[in-house]
Amino acid sequence: MREEVNLRSQRKNEHVQHALNQKPQNVISDFDKVHFVHHSMPAVNLDEVDLSTAIGDMKFDVPLYINAMTGGSSWTKSINEKFGKVAEATGIPMAVGSMHAAVRHPELSGSYSIVREVNPEGLVFANVGADVSLEGAKKAVDMIRADGLQIHLNVAQELIMPEGDRDFKSWQSNIKSVLNGVDVPVIVKEVGFGMSRETLQLLKAAGVKYVDVSGRGGTNFAEIENARRSAQDMDYLSDWGMSTVQSLMESKGFQKDMTILASGGVKTPLDAMKSLALGGSAVGMSHTLLKYVEDNEVEATIEFVEQFFNQMKKIAVMVNAKTIEELRTSPIVFSPDIVSWMEQRNIQSP
Ligand SMILES: Cc1cc2nc3c(=O)[nH]c(=O)nc-3n(C[C@H](O)[C@H](O)[C@H](O)COP(=O)(O)O)c2cc1C
Repeated sequence: MREEVNLRSQRKNEHVQHALNQKPQNVISDFDKVHFVHHSMPAVNLDEVDLSTAIGDMKFDVPLYINAMTGGSSWTKSINEKFGKVAEATGIPMAVGSMHAAVRHPELSGSYSIVREVNPEGLVFANVGADVSLEGAKKAVDMIRADGLQIHLNVAQELIMPEGDRDFKSWQSNIKSVLNGVDVPVIVKEVGFGMSRETLQLLKAAGVKYVDVSGRGGTNFAEIENARRSAQDMDYLSDWGMSTVQSLMESKGFQKDMTILASGGVKTPLDAMKSLALGGSAVGMSHTLLKYVEDNEVEATIEFVEQFFNQMKKIAVMVNAKTIEELRTSPIVFSPDIVSWMEQRNIQSP
């Protein structure tokens, strides 16, 4: 028992350490292949820009969130505490990392519930894997009095991880049972490999309303898990998955019926604005904020988030958009390989 607790805490620490060491991926990201069209005479002043958004009944003014990362060890408890303070000061939602360990070993629960202690009124999301039971999901939600529950889909990560899961067929029925059994909104998310139209279709059929496509371009769990393998022989999968831009294009046909959230490789306010323009209702960041908070501590990270948001609003002015809705009607030009992806996947240009 103790051995399993130690193993899980150690694995989480390794993930965080590898993620912190990870260099920004491809010098040219897919966000650089999406171009806004500059507007020289905007009919909107900076202080009129309103990028407020909602995930179901959860409304928030700054369309950003701290995506799932940490908890389960003393180091990652301290990171959760810092993120909790950043979320509280900036009003953005935050998710904790996978709570699987604490569901089975309640002595670890403090490393997650710290986010509630420091941010009693904020929007906080619990996080579990799709192998979770309904009972486990309920425990995770209760543990941090969560406003929402993220269920992560991480098949690529599990398969590359030597000690990872090998059975996935129960995921669909688990998701359905959690959807029907918990009384908070359920957000199904990837962990950096993106989501296809086919996956979204299955989620929609299961009744899922909130999806975070979390695409390739930032944290790369194929590389992280490969680095943790003693054989290190699955390096060739480092490009596996779809970028956040490709995933958002895949989600086009679902954006009316589902709330699509964008994460994966968001580094700048411009990346975030492009994510919103392509249909994301809010933008999640993990690596960018993890690196920032570990290098600069809480006050500077609060300032970073505030500046990030201010700059998003400036970009809104330059494309003549007052709201996220208007941003979605802004003209966009795609570089050829994104056009080719859309053509081959039969996705209409927006
Ligand atoms: C250190 C670290 C740990 C993570 N742990 C989890 C997790 O426990 N559950 C989860 O759903 N996603 C987890 N993720 C994935 C992120 O939530 C996100 O989907 C992914 O990192 C892509 O975003 P990014 O490029 O901004 O980092 C983790 C990411 C990082 C960097």
